[in-house]
This record gives sequence, structure tokens and C-alpha cells, in this order.
Amino acid sequence: MHLFDAGYWEQQGALAGKAAGRACVLLLETEFGPAVLKQYLRGGWAARVSRDRYVFSGFEQSRPIMEFKVLEQLFVAGLPAPAPLAAICTRDGRLYSGWLMTRRIMDAEPLADLIYSRRGDPVLWRNTGACIRRFHNFGLVHADLNARNILVGEADNVHLVDFDRARIRRGDSRAYSTNLRRLHRSLEKLWPDSFSGHLESCWTLLLEGYDAERRVQ
Ligand SMILES: Nc1ncnc2c1ncn2[C@@H]1O[C@H](COP(=O)(O)OP(=O)(O)O)[C@@H](O)[C@H]1O
Ligand SMILES: [Mg+2]
Repeated sequence: MHLFDAGYWEQQGALAGKAAGRACVLLLETEFGPAVLKQYLRGGWAARVSRDRYVFSGFEQSRPIMEFKVLEQLFVAGLPAPAPLAAICTRDGRLYSGWLMTRRIMDAEPLADLIYSRRGDPVLWRNTGACIRRFHNFGLVHADLNARNILVGEADNVHLVDFDRARIRRGDSRAYSTNLRRLHRSLEKLWPDSFSGHLESCWTLLLEGYDAERRVQ
């Protein structure tokens, strides 16, 4: 299917660039607007077995179809996540490879890249906390909530991305806390040593935003 073929988009002169990430993520200018095409790729030790193939156990259980369906629900709920455009699971015997296309979130930067410049900015951290809380209020459990999967756009509009292996589990407060702990660890790793004192004050602001969003609901 040409929609998921990087070569096709290159030929069309529609390849706008690449995004950083574990997966291969291409930025495209499609006839239905700016999009992002991600191929599911393994990281860590599993990549040695196969980088782009997963064991097939049904189309509905495949990563691209599951992520598409989660994104669909988030979209209907009006949550700040990428709108899903297309997904494919290509079966080859016992294995499959997968791709997902989403609408591109424009002019947004990963939170990871803003730590240095925006560490003293309460609005950014509160908005981030409030955004996460909106997803949790909906029941969304993110599988990899780190500072690269949080995109900050114009007017500090915060979006979450990367819903690979995410689940909707309403009321699973343990899983929501695990999400927050993972994000805290991600920030710790990225935080510049010279500003380590700022981390806890930014984290407090983030939690303030998170808690305030609960009261709105
Ligand atoms: N819809 C989107 N709009 C803008 N940027 C995106 C979008 N989807 C992904 N990205 C960018 O691509 C990166 C990698 O995509 P992601 O879904 O997180 O895949 P990975 O599994 O590689 O982490 C993200 O961190 C983000 O910077
Ligand atoms: Mg990611």
C-alpha cells in the first residue's frame, strides 16, 4: 500500500523530514494535510532478533491497529493527541510489520527539548500536569510517558503522543501513578546537573496542574 511506503512519498517530493524517536518517523506533506508516518521498530535486546517484525497474533492485537483505535477514542473525546489517519498491519506468515499515520501536530517541540529554556516557567509545567490529568480522567494509561512523548505547541498547548501499547483503564489510579513516576525519571535523566535544584520545583508545579484539573472535572 503506497500510503505507508517512504519511497512513494520521497518520489512525490512530499517528505518534509524526520522526527527523532526509536521508531522511524517521517514528516509528510500529504493531500490531506501535514502528517507523520511511523514504522513500528523494536528497541533494546529485541531489536537483535528482528528490528521491524513482531509475532502475529491477530490483526486486532497488532500494535498499529491497537494504537489507531486508542487514538480514535481520544480524538472523539477531544483530547490533545494526534488525530489518526491510517494504519496497516502487514502479515508475513507468523510475523507482521506495522505502520501508523497521524495528523502532524504543528510547531510543537518535545518537552525534553524545553527543559533548559523553560525551567522557570510555571505555565508550561502546570499545563503539562493538567494535560496528563485530562488523559487520566478519561482512563488512558500511557505505556511510555516520557519527556519526548509530550509535545508543547503554540501558547503552551500540551499534547501527548506515542500511544503504542496504551490502554483505556478507567479508575486505575495505580497505573496513573506509574505514568507519573516514569515521567519523573525521564526528567531526572534529562535535567542538566547545573540546574538539578529546579527539578523538584517544576515537578511540584506539574502536580499542581494535575490536581487542579481533577477539580475541574
Ligand atoms: N502526530 C505527530 N505530530 C508531531 N510530531 C510527532 C507526531 N507523532 C510523533 N511525533 C514525533 O515523533 C517522535 C517519535 O514518535 P513516537 O510515536 O513517540 O514513536 P517512538 O515509538 O519512536 O517513540 C515523537 O517523540 C514526536 O517528537
Ligand atoms: Mg515516543
